[in-house]
Amino acid sequence: MNSLTPMNLDALIETAKAARLQAYAPYSKFQVGAALLVENGEVFVGCNVENLSYGLTICAERSAVFASVSAGKRRFTKLVIVSDSKQPISPCGACRQVLAEFNEDLEIISVNLQGETFQASLNELLPRPKAGILG
Ligand code: THU
Repeated sequence: MNSLTPMNLDALIETAKAARLQAYAPYSKFQVGAALLVENGEVFVGCNVENLSYGLTICAERSAVFASVSAGKRRFTKLVIVSDSKQPISPCGACRQVLAEFNEDLEIISVNLQGETFQASLNELLPRPKAGILG
């Protein structure tokens, strides 16, 4: 979903839930949805897309980032992740690095289908992501 209307957290969670249902996860059977809020209020979604060649799988979080950047929107303010897991998940290392490219302080909210929440700032999950590289 892509919207210019202001989105509260509940709406973002619903959007990520809907995205989760688009996940292509025949191998893990673990579906993940993501909703990425952009500075101007737009929301870009992602889901995990798996592949027979397992390593080619892409996570929901990176799918959302690539959709947003492809639409010309790079100023992310909030990421919501939804999964059907005992505890809310947190983004994998690869996704953390990709997210940090655009906002090292991104607010991340992960919820499971029971409504349990994990919340963190990206800099807590991945401190100093560009240390030493950019001078
Ligand atoms: N996955 C995500 O999409 N996001 C995460 O944060 C964790 C893992 C996906 C990758 C793979 O398709 C499945 O979940 C199992 O790891």
